[in-house]
Amino acid sequence: LTEEEIKREIDKTWTAIEEKVRKCQKCPLCESRTQSVFGEGAKNTELMFVGEGPGAEEDAQGLPFVGRAGQLLNQIFTAAGIKREEVYITNVVKCRPPQNRVPTIEECAACNDYLFAQISLVQPKILVTLGNTPTKWLLKTTHEGITQLRGKWFDWYGIKLMPMFHPSYLLRNQSRKVGSPRHLTWQDIQEVKAQWD
Ligand code: URA
Repeated sequence: LTEEEIKREIDKTWTAIEEKVRKCQKCPLCESRTQSVFGEGAKNTELMFVGEGPGAEEDAQGLPFVGRAGQLLNQIFTAAGIKREEVYITNVVKCRPPQNRVPTIEECAACNDYLFAQISLVQPKILVTLGNTPTKWLLKTTHEGITQLRGKWFDWYGIKLMPMFHPSYLLRNQSRKVGSPRHLTWQDIQEVKAQWD
């Protein structure tokens, strides 16, 4: 195959997965969603972010991180010198859990093939998990949560993985004092940016 033909095959694979997610009925979240939220961004990037699942605004627009948490994420990117369109952003579950509750293990499992396909296609050098849900799901940690795990580097099948606090958590914790969640996140994103450069 020529490079062009390979690119076309990869594009076809993306389209096929996107179509599967659009029509997905693998778990009960499909009954309450307006639409699924696949993910967006640069498909050949070295930096990928994984959140928990769509909220109300994401469910309405069909795009990840476009609500209040997304606006804060955008600010974090801008402050760190990261252009949002240069990274890839998705979630563990592609459909909004009712009342934004945490997705169940079963819902994460039902959606897992999509996430793994996305990671396999993007092949990022760095994967950032936002909050407990993607961190615990990918690292399979049971005892430690995001407070213990954030800011540390993990090897995830050869990909450098760093957990960070979820922006929704930062919306509830406004302090910028040394050691506060916002302060720690600022350190974490700078370390991610330095690794990416
Ligand atoms: N929170 C998430 O975890 N993901 C989104 O896409 C939006 C808010």
